[in-house]
Amino acid sequence: CCGYGINGGFSRRFAPTTAAGMTEGGMTAGGMTAGGMTDAGAESQIPFRPGLEGVPATQSSICDIDGQRGVLTYRGYRVDELAARSTFLETAYLLIWAQLPNAQQLQEFEQEVQMHRRVSFRIRDMMKCFPSGGHPMDALQSSAASLGLFYSRRALDNPEYIVSAVVRLIAKIPTMVAAFQLIRKGQDPIQPRDDLAYAANFLYMLTEREPDPLAARIFDACLILHAEHSLNASTFSARVTASTLTDPYAVVASAVGTLAGPLHGGANEDVLTMLAEIGSEDRVDSWLDQAIAEKQKIMGFGHREYKVKDPRAGILQKLAEELFDRFGHDPMYDLARCLEAAADKRLGPKGIYPNVDFYSGLVYRKLGIPPDLFTPIFAIARTAGWLAHWKEQLGANRIYRPSQIYTGEAGRDWQPIGAR
Ligand code: COA
Repeated sequence: CCGYGINGGFSRRFAPTTAAGMTEGGMTAGGMTAGGMTDAGAESQIPFRPGLEGVPATQSSICDIDGQRGVLTYRGYRVDELAARSTFLETAYLLIWAQLPNAQQLQEFEQEVQMHRRVSFRIRDMMKCFPSGGHPMDALQSSAASLGLFYSRRALDNPEYIVSAVVRLIAKIPTMVAAFQLIRKGQDPIQPRDDLAYAANFLYMLTEREPDPLAARIFDACLILHAEHSLNASTFSARVTASTLTDPYAVVASAVGTLAGPLHGGANEDVLTMLAEIGSEDRVDSWLDQAIAEKQKIMGFGHREYKVKDPRAGILQKLAEELFDRFGHDPMYDLARCLEAAADKRLGPKGIYPNVDFYSGLVYRKLGIPPDLFTPIFAIARTAGWLAHWKEQLGANRIYRPSQIYTGEAGRDWQPIGAR
């Protein structure tokens, strides 16, 4: 299944630690010279940066964020252009193989993904044993990890293995998200439909209805917007896991677990809860003042990289408006805009603006998707980015093993239990 070819880099997997740009004499990172990564004295001169803020932890050619101008590019292409003109599978191909596919490559990739959409009845049966009240992200993490049991051959130096793992994960993750949705309602999952494209098929498997073409197109654009975002927490997690040379299913499962937290992917779900709690536009100012006074984080606002409005938030806002024009207005959108305007005055001067999660929930809500599926949908999209990073990591691998600054006690004398 590798007719669409794999883009190099793999032969460097076993290259010595001199990954591109890292010289034997040491590494320069953001103006800090480490002078040799195994030299303990030099390591201690690297200042501790909580959350690794501003510390380069890899080199990557996948995605670039200009956080001052609010520009996001995948492999050099602006994300707004991709969202308007590409499809998600075309974008996934671009992210993973570094080039936009030609017509034949895209057709072959789409066909391969389509052929691998189904999941084993054993996985479906396993999912039926999950508690129906469990969070769909936990179900997804478990089922993604279980793929490693079914496709256990690990051949990381074989390009065909890489392609088949990419295809399986991109194909099966949406099927598993949709399957859990039906299973927890006490229904049997429905099979994918071969005549439907990627986004439309997912919505069909989820709702058991063929979606309106506009809804499918907008959902596909949402997947593009969420597909990749450089070294965010889940992608870092994916790269750390990948660096141990474990299988790609473990890589994606670890990333899913990381994405689930409310400071990362889980924020989109929390935005709707927050808007519901605010309730009406006349309560926005007082609610916000109190939240800021209590040092609460406003969900869907703020970003480590962006000091302006996240470009994806603006695009999602337009997509939401397109949906409202077609399928009816959502008053929660007016509330969200009112909150954005109020937050602009209070948080804008600190560089805190809406991020990708602020408007995505409103789009999904209009598409009839339950809030606790928002983050699993994020995971469907981000699987493309995780796999791109997995492949890139394998191309110049060195296991991640940062240092720490020990702050504990030393030289303690062991005491018998009766003397403690
Ligand atoms: N609401 C209110 N204040 C915020 C804020 C938010 N959403 N995000 C950041 N801030 C403030 C912090 O309180 C802090 O203020 P201080 O310097 O006066 O103490 C300052 O901005 C820096 O915040 P910090 O948490 O250190 O930033 P970070 O880079 O570590 O965190 C996020 C980035 C995304 C985790 C953070 O903005 C956040 O928690 N946002 C809400 C959750 C969310 O929407 N996540 C989705 C991200 S795509």
